[in-house]
Amino acid sequence: MTETPFSTIIEPFRIHSVEPLTMTTRAERREHVEAAGYNLFQLRAEHVLIDLLTDSGTGAMSRDQWAAIQRGDESYAGSPSYYVFVDAVRELFPFEHVIPVHQGRAAEKILFSALGGPGKVVPNNTHFDTTRANVEATGARAIDLVIPEGREATSEHPFKGNMDLGALEALLEEHAHDVPCVMMTITNNSGGGQPVSLANLRAVREICDRHGKPLFLDACRFAENAWFIREREEGQGDREVADIVREIAALADGMTMSAKKDPMGNIGGWLAMNDDDLAQTCRNMLILTEGFPTYGGLAGRDLEALAQGLHEVVQHDYLRYRIRSTAYLGEALQKRGIPVLTPIGGHAVYIDARALASHLSPLEYPGQAVAVALYELGGIRSCEIGTVMFGRQPDGSEVASSMDLVRLAIPRRTYTQSHIDYVIEVCDRLAAEAPSLPGYRITSEPPALRHFTAAFEPLR
Ligand code: F0G
Repeated sequence: MTETPFSTIIEPFRIHSVEPLTMTTRAERREHVEAAGYNLFQLRAEHVLIDLLTDSGTGAMSRDQWAAIQRGDESYAGSPSYYVFVDAVRELFPFEHVIPVHQGRAAEKILFSALGGPGKVVPNNTHFDTTRANVEATGARAIDLVIPEGREATSEHPFKGNMDLGALEALLEEHAHDVPCVMMTITNNSGGGQPVSLANLRAVREICDRHGKPLFLDACRFAENAWFIREREEGQGDREVADIVREIAALADGMTMSAKKDPMGNIGGWLAMNDDDLAQTCRNMLILTEGFPTYGGLAGRDLEALAQGLHEVVQHDYLRYRIRSTAYLGEALQKRGIPVLTPIGGHAVYIDARALASHLSPLEYPGQAVAVALYELGGIRSCEIGTVMFGRQPDGSEVASSMDLVRLAIPRRTYTQSHIDYVIEVCDRLAAEAPSLPGYRITSEPPALRHFTAAFEPLR
């Protein structure tokens, strides 16, 4: 007889050390957010009750990670902690060269300083903003080639992060000499945390081989992507996630990594590759800004914590819980008629704010309106991903972004199901108030990356 599974999702861990949450009233939050210029990045974190701003560096470490921290060896060169780290990385990603860095964008900066430059063109399924910025900072162009379904808010496609193979082929034919590498972001964060299939990765590899181009992974959420492959891709359901990850790695020539996501770190990252000359160039650049190649801007204890985090993130009990609990939030919002991006991604649920606050035009920033209201109502901090983030053009003009989303990113192993039930209740109340939410206007903004520091004013 097969065992009847229970439907309650339980966290596959119990709590070992707790952090207090500060309760505030709606009136207090109204004051805090006004003082922050209605910009949630400008809030003091202790004024936030449930912080869903990002899943990056905000996860809870395990007992065994804290124990590993005690083993951290702080030797400047050749620390044993470096070798523990490299072994853990290479168990999943067996690249020849593994170069630690302090976080993902440092790896991007080094890689594209080596490979980019004026006239170069870098294709990706969808560049994350720091990846795009680091490509463009060298004078190169960053091109997004995700499949058309990946640009739609709702779709049933199981791998909405896939690369558009025809478009990649066409780009490589047209710009054969200008493409230094092809990138694949797994999962596709900017496209809603959507996975890429093994079949698509194999096809991209084949195209890269035919054109003689190296393939690099932006692999921040590799374990979540591999779990989706196990769940959704034909013939993959019996495999170990670690084994799927090794196959993904074998299809690539290198990777950039933010270890603040799936590797369960509060800080860290790495750059890895097989090419000896490129590795030498990158290590030389690393020494200029990050540090000696056996620590790359991290402490020995950080390297130990990441090594342990890598062992934990590929555990099936963890990943089943992680993906189910994100879907639990997304499905509950759908059931209450709140428009969300579908399928639900791995690390976050994205509310379609343009649909929810449909009385506001994109230039009245519906995403900002919903994000501010979530904070005022329930102390929940989310992130606008829409016209505030992307609307400003290099010539100073302003256009509507393709979507106005509010991302509820779920930190790893940090909030319990009752915290999430509370989030659902706040969202439900918000949906009732949505038709009367005020729009916003920007009162001051910096020349670039304005969403971090712009100040706003409600249009009453
Ligand atoms: N690539 C992807 C796909 C990312 O999601 C991020 C960060 C980075 C690169 C850069 O890594 O922050 O360590 O320098 N994403 C965070 C987020 C900030 O909130 O989605 P980093």
